[in-house]
Amino acid sequence: MKLFVDTGSIKDIEALAVLGILDGVTTNPSLLAKESGDYRQNLKRICDIVKGPVSGEVTATDFAGMMRQGHDIAEIDEHMVVKVPLTRDGIRACKALSTEGLRVNVTLVFSAAQALLAAKVGAAFVSPFVGRLDDVATNGMDLIREIVTIYDNYEFATEVLVASCRHPIHVVEAARMGADIATCPPAVIDQLFNHPLTAIGLEKFLKDWEKSQVAAKV
Ligand code: E4P
Repeated sequence: MKLFVDTGSIKDIEALAVLGILDGVTTNPSLLAKESGDYRQNLKRICDIVKGPVSGEVTATDFAGMMRQGHDIAEIDEHMVVKVPLTRDGIRACKALSTEGLRVNVTLVFSAAQALLAAKVGAAFVSPFVGRLDDVATNGMDLIREIVTIYDNYEFATEVLVASCRHPIHVVEAARMGADIATCPPAVIDQLFNHPLTAIGLEKFLKDWEKSQVAAKV
């Protein structure tokens, strides 16, 4: 399964990229609004750091505006993916942009029916938001299982990009279900590394080694 980071922070992306675990980046208007500087330049810098798909979202809500912004986003870099919301205009824009050969990520997906529509119009990625579903007492991961089944049934090429991941269990469950990608905030990626027994084990190994070195000198 591929791992994307969900952030607009260049600093956080640089820190994760050197670890060799990043396959791509997702952003949204809320995330980019937190960063200083021009958003197009920031997206370009992100593409220079991570040589994988980088999603940049349109803010227009009408078809013509989405097309205009979609072309503008795609021009930033060959790695850019145009993110559109799951609305009627968004689905129409996805069809048009995908037909032109651009990659589109359909976002704000909360049902299997919506995911089916995104696949039908050739979305490269579909982004179901598991954490936000959990927030309203609906199991977000059940939706991932449904989408994976539907896409497998019809061999849709659309990749399932599990979004709004809040903790490592979302990531592990996504992998168990065969989702293509999980996108996580940097803090959740940090949590993937952690296990108390790793820390305790390493501390003991180092202490034992240190003791043996002191004994060797006596
Ligand atoms: C996905 O592409 C979105 O940017 C993101 O995962 C939303 O996550 P949130 O619900 O934590 O804001």
